[in-house]
Amino acid sequence: MTLQFSLTPAAPESIATACIVAGVYEGGVFTSAAARLDTASQGALKQLVEAGDLTGQLGQSLVLFKPQGIAAERILVVGLGAQKSFDAQSYYKVNLDAARAVDKLPVSEATTLLPEVDVPAHDIAWKLRTAALAFDHASYRYTTTLKPRSSQKPQLASLQLGANEAPAEALQQASALASGIRFARELANLPPNICNPQYLADQAAALADEYDTVSCRILDHVEMEQLGFGSLLAVGRGSANPPKLIALEYRGTDHDTRPYALVGKGITFDTGGISLKPGAGMDEMKFDMGGAAGVLGSFLATVKLGLPINLVCVVPAVENMPDGNAYRPGDVLTSLSGITIEVLNTDAEGRLILCDALTWTGQTYQPKAIVDAATLTGACVVALGKHASGLLSKHDDLANELLDAGQHSLDRAWRLPLWDDYQNQLESVFADVANIGGKAGGTITAACFLARFTENQRWAHLDIAGTAWDEGRKGSSTGRPVTLLTQWLIDRAQEA
Ligand code: BES
Ligand code: MN
Ligand code: ZN
Repeated sequence: MTLQFSLTPAAPESIATACIVAGVYEGGVFTSAAARLDTASQGALKQLVEAGDLTGQLGQSLVLFKPQGIAAERILVVGLGAQKSFDAQSYYKVNLDAARAVDKLPVSEATTLLPEVDVPAHDIAWKLRTAALAFDHASYRYTTTLKPRSSQKPQLASLQLGANEAPAEALQQASALASGIRFARELANLPPNICNPQYLADQAAALADEYDTVSCRILDHVEMEQLGFGSLLAVGRGSANPPKLIALEYRGTDHDTRPYALVGKGITFDTGGISLKPGAGMDEMKFDMGGAAGVLGSFLATVKLGLPINLVCVVPAVENMPDGNAYRPGDVLTSLSGITIEVLNTDAEGRLILCDALTWTGQTYQPKAIVDAATLTGACVVALGKHASGLLSKHDDLANELLDAGQHSLDRAWRLPLWDDYQNQLESVFADVANIGGKAGGTITAACFLARFTENQRWAHLDIAGTAWDEGRKGSSTGRPVTLLTQWLIDRAQEA
């Protein structure tokens, strides 16, 4: 369950809540909410500033229990850093810091007044949505495969946000996005022995059952065999869990309007296949369906918002395992498009399932635009780190739409070139194309491979290898790029 969001226009000192959140800038400069709480509590905050406890440094947080003169049980003061450099990025960060601090308290509801602070070039709707999503992000816990614990402290379940007047859509968007993000995070976090291709297909079918506007088609390996998905099926051949092609269709407008299409890499576990990956950290390859989780999450958010567009969401769901029946380096595959592919490395499997999924999506739906999301290359993590998703497209207008959506929603992407100059790295003697392009520009050559299968499409590719999850033993799914993709669709719906 996501947090429940509501608005309150009440005066800060009169809000009866378990915890009220207000910000203070560096140097102890009060926001207006902090100033009101300070006055009502006879200078409780000023005292902290004078004693040096409260500096207002970015990331600082302090809890005051039962302060005199105000209706809230606790005040959480958070540092906003320097007022003059306060921007959208710092706004998200302080909301996340505040949310994490609230999350540690034994409270089931709280009120944040942070939306009152000025964020240059951003309106109240944006501030409310961003704050709500930060709190929801911090309050998500993965518990599905843990033994239930009895004496748990209360968990945050609802959040009031302080604002005088705000468009109703701000919190609606926040709720829909939060649902989509949680759905994506949960799917990606699930272990690969649960979240296999069949499981993803079942989840998609359940969405179609739940919403009248949604229908679902699942192609199994027999149907894909008949249709000629030679590249996708090869990747799945070493696995006991047969591949599925999942297609969800949402109708938000008349049926003859061409849909937008999202395609997500759904490798439910990537061992590398015969080109086996090293053992260390291989467990993280359960997140190799992060693209699938991301497009399914965006799909759910779009459905919940009821956007007036048509949308399809296509997920090739496949497990990449080594086995006596597995595909091998040297194999030549015939893809659905007819293009033949020489496999030089079975660990470059994402592009092999995506090429067939992209061909099928283009042929089946003639979409207005196709965007795929994939944890495609380690090279993207080297190039951009964990903060930006890689964006590659030959269509400047589409690329700019996506960059803008990412910038606005703080789920940012950075564009890399998709020039044909790189195409010769994929040349093969034994097939039309090879599945790897050598050391140089690995993210670009992977996208160049996909570009050969999307020639007549308005297509963009997001490499989310660095952004889909936080790495390490305690790392978990981030829910990216649900916000970016959903924002892009919200913007398209507004254009229509
Ligand atoms: N799923 C991996 C990419 C990946 C690696 C994502 C690490 C996030 C973290 C993908 O299937 C893969 O193995 N790619 C290879 C491609 C190479 C063989 C050309 C890679 O990046 O090493
Ligand atoms: Mn791989
Ligand atoms: Zn992979």
